[in-house]
Amino acid sequence: MPEDVNTDGVNAITGTSIVMSEEEKLGNIQYIAQIIQQNVGGELFRIETVQDYPLEHDTLVEQASEEQHNQARPELKAFPENIEDYDTIFIGYPNWWGDMPMPVYTFLEGVDLSEKTIIPFCPHGESRFANTLKSISQIQPNAIISQNGFTISREDVADAENNIISWLHDLSL
Ligand SMILES: Cc1cc2nc3c(=O)[nH]c(=O)nc-3n(C[C@H](O)[C@H](O)[C@H](O)COP(=O)(O)O)c2cc1C
Repeated sequence: MPEDVNTDGVNAITGTSIVMSEEEKLGNIQYIAQIIQQNVGGELFRIETVQDYPLEHDTLVEQASEEQHNQARPELKAFPENIEDYDTIFIGYPNWWGDMPMPVYTFLEGVDLSEKTIIPFCPHGESRFANTLKSISQIQPNAIISQNGFTISREDVADAENNIISWLHDLSL
């Protein structure tokens, strides 16, 4: 169930919640992704839709619900050019209505992650991963879906750097 998130002034691509990091406003996903990159390297790729998402919370919640109901596949601006060079892919997404946002479906259906390890991370209001790990494995049946992904309440993201680093350490990449 979506909760009341103040989306004012935040780019809906980077996230609907706000984390202040060194005076910079970041979405939860972006913040976690940056910590991952700082600690394990790799390249950041942002899943961006052609049509921007509304910034106003209620409108966003409604649109997300409709897209899920219609099983929409919102068009993406781009796909990564060199994903085949990577063995391990971290995929971050917010829990939207107990599921992944539909653009993440567009993304996962548009790349071949066979034989690669997918490590999901997911900030949430209370539903944690819900059924998203299963959904990912249905779309990418030949990928290895880590069961040690990272899920965290959006309330805790801003203080989570040490937890994220400790999780990454435990993954023994
Ligand atoms: C459209 C929408 C639907 C949401 N649905 C859920 C939900 O079903 N369960 C849940 O735990 N959190 C839900 N949330 C809360 C988000 O998972 C949470 O705010 C998360 O931190 C968003 O990450 P972000 O700030 O990077 O966008 C929803 C948020 C939005 C905007």
